[in-house]
Amino acid sequence: MGDLKLRCELVNGQMKGLRVNSSGVKGLIRQSLEAKKFAYCPYSKFRVGAALLTRDGTVFTGCNVENACYNLGICAERTAISKAVSEGYRDFKAIAIASDLCEQFISPCGGCRQFMREFGATWDVYLSKPDGSYVEMTVEELLPGSFGPDDLKMKQVHSIPNEY
Ligand code: THU
Repeated sequence: MGDLKLRCELVNGQMKGLRVNSSGVKGLIRQSLEAKKFAYCPYSKFRVGAALLTRDGTVFTGCNVENACYNLGICAERTAISKAVSEGYRDFKAIAIASDLCEQFISPCGGCRQFMREFGATWDVYLSKPDGSYVEMTVEELLPGSFGPDDLKMKQVHSIPNEY
């Protein structure tokens, strides 16, 4: 059954307990560390890997892919999510993120937080270090008060001026 150790980490001054089977988490983190090896980052030289776990247990990995036209680069998290969505998966349990930072846990950029949030706010994000240690947060914790697909369906004023 794997270990069910309860780990705690300090996140923004708060102790967070890990709720899931930590051997499963460790496996996902291992896959994000493997994915990091494929990072294409000749400009930043900052490698990132991600491993995305779907509800049915399928894992999609991703790495950052940069471009000579700098603004076209894509983050590891978005690579993994786009791979999953493009193969028909939209229901996610967790994503593990890995980088080479050894003194801090990799923190996803704002754009990736919003990209994750598109597919729900209650799933888990594991922010790791190269030694495999990690903190667990939810998408909601990473992006509080977020804007999502349901907001587009909320009541709006009746008359939108023509210039829009
Ligand atoms: N990067 C990611 O892939 N994910 C993150 O969570 C943070 C940043 C990438 C983007 C860019 O290729 C490089 O890291 C430096 O910002």
